[in-house]
Order: sequence, then structure tokens, then C-alpha cells
Amino acid sequence: MLKEMLGGILPADEASQVYSAFDQIGDIVIIKIPDSLASRKQVIADAILANVKTAKAVFSQASAVRGDYRIRDLEFLAGENRTITEYKEHGCRFKVDVAKTYFSPRLSTERQRIASLVQDNEVIVNMFAGVGTYSVVIAKTNKTSTVYSIDSNSAANDLCIENAKLNKVSERIIPICGDASEVIKNQLAGLADRVLMPLPERAKEFIEPAVLALKQKGVIHYFAHVKADNKKAAKAQGNIDADSAFVNYNHKIDEITIVREVGPRIYQIVADVSIQKN
Ligand SMILES: C[S@@+](CC[C@H](N)C(=O)[O-])C[C@H]1O[C@@H](n2cnc3c(N)ncnc32)[C@H](O)[C@@H]1O
Repeated sequence: MLKEMLGGILPADEASQVYSAFDQIGDIVIIKIPDSLASRKQVIADAILANVKTAKAVFSQASAVRGDYRIRDLEFLAGENRTITEYKEHGCRFKVDVAKTYFSPRLSTERQRIASLVQDNEVIVNMFAGVGTYSVVIAKTNKTSTVYSIDSNSAANDLCIENAKLNKVSERIIPICGDASEVIKNQLAGLADRVLMPLPERAKEFIEPAVLALKQKGVIHYFAHVKADNKKAAKAQGNIDADSAFVNYNHKIDEITIVREVGPRIYQIVADVSIQKN
């Protein structure tokens, strides 16, 4: 789409180097520009602003998603110089700061899948809640659920509080700012029917607190990145990875879902793991 948009603006050899996909979060567009086109970034951003009717601002991604907060450096290119926007999904509204918090529109199917599994009166601990995406979709989908939403990034936690209000579920979302391990040890042990671990890069380090959060039995949604040649192999690898992560616990892997491809032959998977404590 971007290549076509730039067809009449850049010479053919330059237009062919543009990455065709870009992220749009609310009215903010984030593009990746190859180094070879660095001198053309302004022209590219202006073309996006002129052609994408819902875009009010364009930024380029100046670093990979990184650090504990999983955020990326952005460079302002065109339109309104602001990083806060509102994004809508499954009848939910999310205020997002694309510079200070993690957010991906590409996880919406997975948010809906997990929300659809929640049973009446469940207590859920979302260990890495960000701006409250999974928490809000769950609380809106099941009106009897309660979601403890932990995040160590205070900017994300502040937006989680706002998003709970915006979606009229603040009485059933409890945002807590802090390290998930500490928060669970100090406040949430033995309380959850379901635990979400949406931090695929590091989820394996948090297995013990995740299990600690559960009642006598419950389900953990364990996110991970696996290397594989195709989706079938990624599922098999996801099963091996989750099995080894929960080796010290009485567990059963109910389902492995491929969430998305995050790089060449790297897949994000989620394992739904049932745990029975002894
Ligand atoms: C990949 S993001 C996912 C956010 C959200 N679940 C979503 O999908 O939009 C992971 C989140 O975990 C948070 N985080 C990282 N380490 C943490 C820790 N030790 N305790 C609590 N939150 C943490 C980050 O700040 C970030 O918001």
C-alpha cells in the first residue's frame, strides 16, 4: 500500500525499497524507514499524511522495541507533534502514549480469544498489563470478572487507570504499579483463577510468581518467542518451551496458539497451561 502511495513521488528504485507495512495506532502512523531512504523520510511522511485520511501525525521508528518497558524511540516527521492518541477495538477505547508505553494493534485477535475463555466470577492477574489492553477487553467481555493489572511502567499504569474509567470498568480493574514478582508475593498470592504473562521476551523468568498468584488450580497464559521454520513447527516448539518452563509444576498444556510472526522464522506463541497445585 505504501509502495503504491509513493509510486508517483519517488523514483521506482527508491519506492521499491520502502517497507510496505506500517502501524497505525488511532490517528498516529509509525513507519520504519530503511537507512538507504533516510534522506527521503520527510517526503514519505508527507505522502502518508496526504493519503491516509485518518492520520494526523507521522513518526518514524528510530530504535527497536527495547528495555523493561518494551518501548521504542520515535522521531517526529509530519502533522501534529504529539504521541497521545485514542485507539478503538472490540467496542473498547484505549488512550495510548506511543512514546512512553508499549502498545500493539496486532494483538487484538489474541485479546479477544483470551477474553472469550474467561468464566463467570473469575479473578484474573495480568502480570504485564501495559495500558490495560487485555484487562479492559476481558472486563468488558465478562461483566463478572475482576482483573488485577500490574505494570512497572508508571506511564502505562496511569493510562490503565484512565482506560478502565473510559470503558466504565474501573470497579473491576485494579491497577497496581510495580514489579509483578513483588506485587504478587506481597498482595496477590493464591487469589487468581487465571494469570496472563504477556511479556514474551522474559515470561520464563516469572513462572514462580505466576503460579504463586493462582488458587489451588487455574490457567496461565504463557507468552514466548520461538524459532521455527513454519507455523506447525512453531507450535511444536512452543509446546516444548512451555513444558520446560512449567516442569516443576503439575501442569497440562491445553492449547498452543500462534499469535504472530515477529521476525524471520521467529514466532510469538501463547500456551494455555492448566496448573494443579499439590
Ligand atoms: C510487551 S508489553 C505488553 C503490554 C500489554 N499487555 C499489551 O499487550 O498491550 C509488556 C509490559 O510489561 C511491563 N513490564 C516489564 N517488566 C515488568 C515487571 N517486572 N513487572 C511488571 N511489569 C513489567 C512493561 O512495562 C510493558 O508494559
